[in-house]
Amino acid sequence: MTLNTKPVIVALDFPDAKSALDLAARLDPSECRVKVGKELHTAAGPQVVDALMHWGFDVFLDLKFHDIPNTVAGACRVAASQEVWMINVHASGGSRMMLAAREAVDFASTKPLLIGVTVLTSLSDADMVEIGFIGPAVDNVLRLASLTKACGLDGVVCSAQEAAGLKAALGAGFQLVTPGIRLESEAKGDQQRVVTPVDAIRRGADFLVIGRSISHAKDPITALHSINQQLANVLA
Ligand code: C5P
Repeated sequence: MTLNTKPVIVALDFPDAKSALDLAARLDPSECRVKVGKELHTAAGPQVVDALMHWGFDVFLDLKFHDIPNTVAGACRVAASQEVWMINVHASGGSRMMLAAREAVDFASTKPLLIGVTVLTSLSDADMVEIGFIGPAVDNVLRLASLTKACGLDGVVCSAQEAAGLKAALGAGFQLVTPGIRLESEAKGDQQRVVTPVDAIRRGADFLVIGRSISHAKDPITALHSINQQLANVLA
């Protein structure tokens, strides 16, 4: 399967390796990729990443590094050495931090996709004011995404609400990874800038990060298949 015929990344947001691996064992690596984030990685470390890769999954290591350039470069170097498929850093760490991450990844023998986190999809325009960002979320996303591209990263994490504008401004090759995905019937939960899977793809998202809509579904595999079927119709 090529990149865009496998757009779903299932977020394995679990507090222990067993729960994550129980779900992963039911997933087919030809039908989705998986994401290991802070909760699972804090509980289970690189071993769970190795186990998932051993089963054939592309792993997005979503640790959202945000620190001084030297520390972020070191973390990216270690992540790249684990041969994961995708890693990310916070764009608001600034250009020196992102350039250090880029350089660290470029020295690796296997280069993961290196992605910048723009504005978390849990943040609204009102939250922008609270944390001192000027303007609405969409303006901050474009500014941070442009900076990310200028630093040579491969794409950004953003809301699919911003995808069309980013594709137009930054080009088709700049990868857009979009969490904040919700099915039509679902509540937003702690997310703010949400979009349905089909709408996300239509707006130009390359990858959809989907957590609870799959992992908390009564039948996660049926939920994934139903989403993939809807997306196949759009992508065709
Ligand atoms: O359950 P839900 O679909 O909301 O999960 C979204 C996942 O995407 C979580 O693992 C969260 O950490 C991640 N994520 C996000 N917003 C970002 C980056 C990552 O929600 N900007």
